[in-house]
Amino acid sequence: MSERVIPLVDQRIASLAAAIPAQRIVADGLLSDALGRPLSDLRISVTDRCNFRCNYCMPKEVFDKDYPYLPHGALLSFEEITRTAKLFVAHGVRKIRLTGGEPLLRKNIEVLIGQLAALRTPDGQPLDLTLTTNGSLLARKAKSLKAAGLKRVTVSLDGLDDAVFRAMNDVDFPVADVLEGIEAARAAGLGAGEPGHSLKINMVVKRGTNEHEIPRMARHFQGTGIVLRFIEYMDVGATNGWRMDEVLPSAEVVRMIHAELPLVQLDPSAPGETAERWGYADASGRHDPALGEIGVISSVTQAFCRDCNRARLSTEGKLYLCLFAGQGHDLRALIRGGASDEDIASAIGAIWQGRSDRYSELRASMPTDAGTGARRVEMSYIGG
Ligand code: GTP
Ligand code: 5AD
Ligand code: SF4
Ligand code: SF4
Repeated sequence: MSERVIPLVDQRIASLAAAIPAQRIVADGLLSDALGRPLSDLRISVTDRCNFRCNYCMPKEVFDKDYPYLPHGALLSFEEITRTAKLFVAHGVRKIRLTGGEPLLRKNIEVLIGQLAALRTPDGQPLDLTLTTNGSLLARKAKSLKAAGLKRVTVSLDGLDDAVFRAMNDVDFPVADVLEGIEAARAAGLGAGEPGHSLKINMVVKRGTNEHEIPRMARHFQGTGIVLRFIEYMDVGATNGWRMDEVLPSAEVVRMIHAELPLVQLDPSAPGETAERWGYADASGRHDPALGEIGVISSVTQAFCRDCNRARLSTEGKLYLCLFAGQGHDLRALIRGGASDEDIASAIGAIWQGRSDRYSELRASMPTDAGTGARRVEMSYIGG
């Protein structure tokens, strides 16, 4: 095992207790954190493994054959996940996103999707149930995911040029197979709704690596009903060697596309949304819904912590309050220790009420090299 791996392992082992507060916190959907932010979005990581090695997420040198992935018994079971998710829903969660690692690598994921699809909000509505995937298994699984109750998917795709794509996933995976997966998802009806609920593509932009793919990606997805989003390369985790000079600000992405395909800014479709929306304009300069829209996610140059309503449940049942948090709160200890639903809901409530995380906003006021901190969890562990 290389020396670099050790702090990461320590980071996962160290955790904060999820204490049951003396005074019960009833799940009434009105929870808000120390900065007044509600809890409405839950991201559940179902595996810390992935078949890709994107350099910005799971660099090959660190995530090699000796990397100590979580043992099976450490993972929350589907029953444990569903029970926990239900308590989050009682607290106000409306959207659940399954992530990883690569969530489609988790065996029988359709069973979990079926269980989560059966949950209802306190006012009787189904959840906005979605999943982020690298698309490699989508051609095979799109139909069964839809049948299980999944509403939509977001597929990561960092370029259309095969050589660029193979280099970025770093396992020589061909782009054609992911495009086939996206087509299968579309055909299965995974994301046939309004733009906010459509099939989405996430492209992480690294200056000097794939920025020349931006106009081509925009042309490819314009008018397809698929929403393409450009993500600023983030300093998440401790292994990707992040440098500010590899971040291409979203303002530049918008400028590049606008020069060729005119854009107009659109209103947010939901509070606390990560992406800023831009619609393709018609000849008169107005948004043409038939041409569709793009999104830019600018967590480096324009932090969006102010409305951050996202909680993250790690593969082994720790509750993280921020993508950049150093430690999570160990809900699994409560679940496996025999705590009641009321007690676990109370503990979740107390943890959320104490939340004041706003890492991306604070980063803006830090020196640029402070972004490579060695004490954060990996995105492959906590989920995107
Ligand atoms: P939709 O409902 O489909 O629009 O979901 P979303 O906007 O939450 O999108 P998604 O989960 O696909 O997130 C897109 C990317 O934005 C992630 O892969 C991360 O790179 C980034 N991101 C998502 N949530 C956060 C967050 O809370 N903080 C930061 N800094 N980045 C985030
Ligand atoms: N910066 C930005 N986004 C990242 N992702 C993973 N690592 C990073 C990073 N360093 C996101 C991508 C990918 C999802 C699974 O995680 O959006 O699509
Ligand atoms: Fe895997 Fe997604 Fe991370 Fe790439 S970004 S290594 S596909 S989890
Ligand atoms: Fe939310 Fe943390 Fe991301 Fe800010 S940096 S938007 S608080 S997850």
